[in-house]
Amino acid sequence: MTNEIIKPITARYFQNQKQAKEKLTMLTAYDYSTAKYIDECGIDSILVGDSVGMTVLGYDSTINVTIEDMLTFTKAVSRGVKRALVIADMPFLSYHVSKEQTILNAGKLIQAGAKAVKLEGASDFILDEIKHLTESGINVVGHLGFTPQYINTIGGYFVQGKSYENTLKLLEAAKKLEANGAFALVLEMVPEESAKYISENLNIPTIGIGAGRYCDGQVLVIDDIIGKYSSHVPKFVKQYANVKETMKDAISKYNKEVKNGFFPSPEYIFTLQEEERAKLENTVV
Ligand code: KIV
Repeated sequence: MTNEIIKPITARYFQNQKQAKEKLTMLTAYDYSTAKYIDECGIDSILVGDSVGMTVLGYDSTINVTIEDMLTFTKAVSRGVKRALVIADMPFLSYHVSKEQTILNAGKLIQAGAKAVKLEGASDFILDEIKHLTESGINVVGHLGFTPQYINTIGGYFVQGKSYENTLKLLEAAKKLEANGAFALVLEMVPEESAKYISENLNIPTIGIGAGRYCDGQVLVIDDIIGKYSSHVPKFVKQYANVKETMKDAISKYNKEVKNGFFPSPEYIFTLQEEERAKLENTVV
C-alpha cells in the first residue's frame, strides 16, 4: 500500500500558476461525494458557490441563500477534499451591513473548512471589507462582470464590459480589488477581448466563466457540465455528460421493477437459516 503525500493547493499556488502561464481549473460543488470526485480528478479549486440556491435549493436566483445554508454546504464539501483549494461564496447581504458582521460571517465559513471566501463587486465599502478580511488572515477572491447577487439592479443575465469604456471601468475595479488584497478574480460574462485585456493587466489570476479563452483559469457550475441542472443553461456552458437522463432512466427502471415485483430479486435479500425458518413456519399466533 502506498501512502501518497498530498500537497494541498494554496492561494500562493494561484499566483505561481499565473506567473508560469499555466491554466487554473475550478468547479463548483455543494456535497461531499461530488467534491471528493472533483478533488480526485485533480481540479485545482472547488467553489462552494451560492449557485447552490438554484442547483440544489430550487430558488430562481442566489438572493435567498443564507450564511447558514453556505455553512452546511461548505462543511459537506470540505469533508470530501484533500487537495483542492475550497472557496466559499459569501451570500447576499452577508458582507454589506458592517465590518463586524462581514468578518464574523467570513470567519464561520473558514471554520467550516473553506480556505478562502468570494465576494461580489468592488464598491468602496466592499474594498474596505476585503482589506479588513485579508489583514485578518482570510483569503479573498473577487467577482466582477455579471455579479448574480445584483440581478435585481442589473435587470437580467446581461454580458458586462461590452464597450471600451466599460472594459476600462472593469479593469479599474479589478485593480482596486487586487490592491486591497484579493488573490484571484472571477470574471463572469465578459467579452473575450475585455477579459483578455483585464487578465493581461493584473498581477492576480482571473478565473473566467463566460469570459472567453484568455483568462488565467476557468470555472463552471458542476451541475451544468454534467447535465444535471436543466432550468437555465447559459451559452457559455459546455455539457460533458447527461446525468439528468442517466438519473431519470435509473429512477424509471426502479419504479417499474418495484411495481411489477422484479425488485428486490434474490441477490438483494437477507434470508433466515433453514432451522429458524422452520420454527417460524410452525408457529401460529
Ligand atoms: O455561485 C457560483 O457558482 C459562482 C460561479 C458562477 C462563479 O459564483
